[in-house]
Amino acid sequence: MPVRPGELELDHDCLTQDAWLSFIGHIETPFHTRADCPRNGRKTTEVAYVRVKPDFLPALKSLETCSHVIIFYWMHEAIRTLVQQCPKFAQNSHGTFALRSPNRPNPIAISVVELLEVLPDGLKIRYIDCLNGTPLLDIKPYFHQTDAIPTSEVGWHISEVKEEDSTA
Ligand SMILES: C[S@@+](CC[C@H](N)C(=O)[O-])C[C@H]1O[C@@H](n2cnc3c(N)ncnc32)[C@H](O)[C@@H]1O
Repeated sequence: MPVRPGELELDHDCLTQDAWLSFIGHIETPFHTRADCPRNGRKTTEVAYVRVKPDFLPALKSLETCSHVIIFYWMHEAIRTLVQQCPKFAQNSHGTFALRSPNRPNPIAISVVELLEVLPDGLKIRYIDCLNGTPLLDIKPYFHQTDAIPTSEVGWHISEVKEEDSTA
């Protein structure tokens, strides 16, 4: 993806290798190109499947009692060197850490999804925005008591983005 006017991209040398991650599975969605993907999980009701590698299936124990879970995934097609970006729906450039863009030094994405069913090889879910085949990093239960902050604000978004474009 070419850098747009107002964006800032670093050299790849900024990406030091400080830790390692293991993909614990992958996510199957109906979205086969980035253009097919919704901007965030709330913009689709499509069902998706979280396929967990056999070794990690015991870690799903008790998850069937949860209505919603947080899925962490690796945006494998992301650009990792963009530190300031101009989202199409915004008027100005913003720092990567003020955005939910997949393009970031460690392209970790999250979605709070509805858990429809625990399957023998993973989860049936809805409300996720990623490409088919996106690697899976982690799954955690969603606790509304600690994870929801209804009074929270993203100031630049309030002033720059129209209501129907909600969520960066
Ligand atoms: C704006 S990001 C939000 C991701 C996540 N919900 C979050 O907030 O961390 C969602 C967009 O990332 C892009 N995307 C989806 N899967 C991707 C992948 N595997 N690699 C790179 N980009 C991806 C699509 O353009 C999609 O609309």
